[in-house]
Amino acid sequence: MATLKDKKILLAVTGSIAAYKIATLTRLLVKSGAQVRIIMTEAATKFITPLTLATLSKNEVHQEVSSGASWNNHVELGLWADLMVVAPLTATSMAKMANAICDSMVVAVYLSARCPIFFAPAMDLDMWAHPANQANLKKLISYGNHLIPVGIGELASGLSGAGRMAEPAQIVEVLAHHFQKGKDLQGKKVLITAGPTFEAIDPVRFIGNRSSGKMGLALAKDALRRGAEVCLILGPSRLDLSHPALNLVKVESADQMYAAAKQHFPAMDIAILAAAVSDYRPKEQALEKIKKKSENLILELVKNPDIAASLGQQKQKHQLLIGFALETNNEEANAIGKLKKKNFDFIVLNSLKDPGAGFNHDTNQITILSKDNKIKKFELKSKKSVASDILDEAIEWMNK
Ligand code: C5P
Repeated sequence: MATLKDKKILLAVTGSIAAYKIATLTRLLVKSGAQVRIIMTEAATKFITPLTLATLSKNEVHQEVSSGASWNNHVELGLWADLMVVAPLTATSMAKMANAICDSMVVAVYLSARCPIFFAPAMDLDMWAHPANQANLKKLISYGNHLIPVGIGELASGLSGAGRMAEPAQIVEVLAHHFQKGKDLQGKKVLITAGPTFEAIDPVRFIGNRSSGKMGLALAKDALRRGAEVCLILGPSRLDLSHPALNLVKVESADQMYAAAKQHFPAMDIAILAAAVSDYRPKEQALEKIKKKSENLILELVKNPDIAASLGQQKQKHQLLIGFALETNNEEANAIGKLKKKNFDFIVLNSLKDPGAGFNHDTNQITILSKDNKIKKFELKSKKSVASDILDEAIEWMNK
């Protein structure tokens, strides 16, 4: 059974019929060793009584930031918790959390909590599918909160479809898994390329692309959290990172990224190539700023080195090589082509067709295609959670 021994879990309950399952969830959390404190919206108390939950959690249940003359400190509760889980999460509370409408203890605590936050929505199927709810859902995910996906099946309305709150046992599993992810990359060396490259035309102009470096940075942060030593080769990006176990190598051009990657790769266990490397660069780089003279200016471009393919050739048996593909058409076929050509162990595909995926977003929706012909599709998540999924996959491969 999943263990949450000594973990401090703050459970927030909002007003859906699925709240009746929170008695079971509380019981399971306590049984798995967690300390549980509960807050509820007023609507939630119509579906399950605070007395029931106070008895099961062995702690007082709070509903209001202030009740009469006393003040319930939402900051203190948010700081106490190792993890906050909102279950069930209704459309109204989701909208309030997504937009900081702070009219309840639940939203006040949510906004001031510093711990990881999980949420398990519960709604009728059409409500769940409504663009307003889906937009709020995406906002919550983009803030780094973790979605516990809805189930599909019979709903309280009598309809059947997506929208059921995840079962209590599933919720406990998800939370326990979060804590189990300890230092599983301790002693490992991870190389990450990230960001765009800029190819100089003259001293002031360049050819570049819209990559922000966010996905690569999220990977570097998660690898560091898991205990890895990370070498991050970062193209020109506004982002920055510092950590005692991080070697940050800042580069501008594909050539510089290539040189740094080749230098560091032999010592690595894992290399993740998340950079959007410019395929071509100007053949000549003018030493002075090019003057506006003729009507047309023709730039001759030459191919840049393919960093991924080169590392793929020099890859040793114990090394894992992971690539990215950002495609606009024939996504899976193109990704598989790159996987083979560059000798990747697996490739992470994101499509520009998926809203919220790709350049500059805080969220991403990925599919992982591997050299043993397996395909895993993931939901839209924060880049932080996507990074964690990619490293989970890498660890699975290393343990094969
Ligand atoms: O640009 P392309 O779609 O071929 O990128 C696929 C993968 O190859 C990505 O992981 C990217 O970081 C890597 N790549 C590279 N060097 C290049 C081009 C792409 O490492 N010159």
